[in-house]
Amino acid sequence: MKPDINEELQRIVESLKAYAELEEKSGSSFLSYSKGKKIIVGNEKGLGTKKGALEALKTEIIESDCCQLFRTRTNLVFGSGSPDAKLVFVGEAPGREEDLQGLPFIGRAGQLLTKIIESIGLKRKDVYICNILKCRPPNNRNPFPTEILACEGYLVRQLEIIKPKIICALGKFAAQTLLRDQTPISKLRGRFFDYHGVKLIPTFHPAYLLRNPKDKQLVWEDMKKIKRELKT
Ligand code: URA
Repeated sequence: MKPDINEELQRIVESLKAYAELEEKSGSSFLSYSKGKKIIVGNEKGLGTKKGALEALKTEIIESDCCQLFRTRTNLVFGSGSPDAKLVFVGEAPGREEDLQGLPFIGRAGQLLTKIIESIGLKRKDVYICNILKCRPPNNRNPFPTEILACEGYLVRQLEIIKPKIICALGKFAAQTLLRDQTPISKLRGRFFDYHGVKLIPTFHPAYLLRNPKDKQLVWEDMKKIKRELKT
């Protein structure tokens, strides 16, 4: 069936309106990311540390009802690891375990991610791990575009605070969202892209690897590229 063009346009307009409202509410603007904007590291009380700035941002998100997912979540899953990390992993959204414990990547996919990190001689505490969405979509359904738009500004601010050298986007949602590129993950993975001055490399999501273990080799290759780049 051919989509009705008027309906489609209406949907796009509504989506843009919702995005603008959400940006205004959250005080963040993806479009103004790093464009002459002074990035304040620290919280309002002047605690000038990355840790303090991340804590302040987490509190801000907990206190805001940025999209409907706050109604069904158990815990906000903000992120974990070193605020000084040179390498940040960005996944899709918390799953059941993550929602229950408030920590990213702690289920089966998370255990594989730990092995992937250790394959390049790092520990989880050396890197930072977070997601595009901070709240679990019910029954692990795919994130809606409006949810991604509502949450992405927070991720951008998180990255502005941490200032990593490399971002590794885990899977299709993270890669396509951050790069604004609908190319399949199988074509995006393994290449470095520029993300607002930061090197970004997509790779397969560990949950995908659990279903397709034959592709683990490709992820090890991507990780070797990251290891080399971290040394430069
Ligand atoms: N999958 C993700 O994308 N993120 C998590 O935190 C857990 C599973």
